[in-house]
Amino acid sequence: MKILVVGGAGYIGSVCAELLLNEGHDVAIFDNLTEGHRAAVDPRATFSEGDLSDRQSIGAAISTVRPDAVMHFAANALVGESMENPSKYFRNNVGNGLNLLDAIVESRVARLVFSSTCAIFGPPDRLPIDETLPAQPINPYGESKLAFEKILRWYDQIHGLKFIALRYFNAAGASEKFGEDHRVETHLIPNVLQVALGQKPEVAIFGTDYETPDGTCIRDYIHILDLARAHILALGSKKSDFYNLGTGGGSSVREVIDTAGKITGRKINVVEKPRRPGDPPRLIASSEKIQRELGWKPQFQSLDAIIESAWKWHQKFPTGYGD
Ligand code: UFG
Repeated sequence: MKILVVGGAGYIGSVCAELLLNEGHDVAIFDNLTEGHRAAVDPRATFSEGDLSDRQSIGAAISTVRPDAVMHFAANALVGESMENPSKYFRNNVGNGLNLLDAIVESRVARLVFSSTCAIFGPPDRLPIDETLPAQPINPYGESKLAFEKILRWYDQIHGLKFIALRYFNAAGASEKFGEDHRVETHLIPNVLQVALGQKPEVAIFGTDYETPDGTCIRDYIHILDLARAHILALGSKKSDFYNLGTGGGSSVREVIDTAGKITGRKINVVEKPRRPGDPPRLIASSEKIQRELGWKPQFQSLDAIIESAWKWHQKFPTGYGD
């Protein structure tokens, strides 16, 4: 198939593009390179630099490529930042996303795979989080993704656009070539590994008084290659639907830091800080629906394996993509 990967120079998009290419698909990447990196564009793909705020630019990309399907990764995705700058999140994730949807409808692209998030749920009443739980986001990031999910339903009903929305839990790890490099790093695992590399003196633990066994937040870390495989399976689905995507396991902030210490063999200095606004205490996925309906199964079940792949990548590329 011919796939247009919007946001394909970013962390998750670059690995999905790599896997699509490995499986023999044609890939075109559209990215504005604000979060993404030119060096994260797989050389086997074609690349056009453009911004979703520019309706002409995405329209031109779609009519040139004429893709069978679009994968949409281009968004801002930081919970903490969204609590300070909600406008950025609603403008980019919802408003600019609409330009993409309208271009897709105009060019009659049949399918869309959309990067959604478990942040649409907010703190759940029960765990693990399955698709029947109510969506009650507690930060503008989650709210922006939920709004886009609702828009997708209407575009299906009115324009017949078939979509799969994948609600990622915490993406982590790396492929051999592509990994996690944000210009301002806020994510736990890369921050911990930067301490292991001696690039940062210590890692902060945001909140040690949560109602969890060790007082720190619990997340379901899912390997980026497992996420990428789910996107490929989603291309084969004929209907529109929403799927949660995690391993079903949970690790606390302290467990992540301890595991990274063990794998890297380096001392990780920590400093305890207050809670970060917008953080739910525990997020653990039920991925039963996608396993049952699309045949997805995570290959990386352990936090050790996930951190090990990230560590390999950070050692190989200590300055990330270097830009
Ligand atoms: N944390 C720290 N210290 C750090 C960084 C993070 O203690 O230096 C804590 C956070 O407070 C949180 C946990 O580690 O409890 C994980 O934080 P991340 O920033 O790595 O990830 P988030 O859970 O905040 O968010 C990520 C993505 C979102 C996605 C979400 C789903 O950034 O896009 O996972 O849970 F929606």
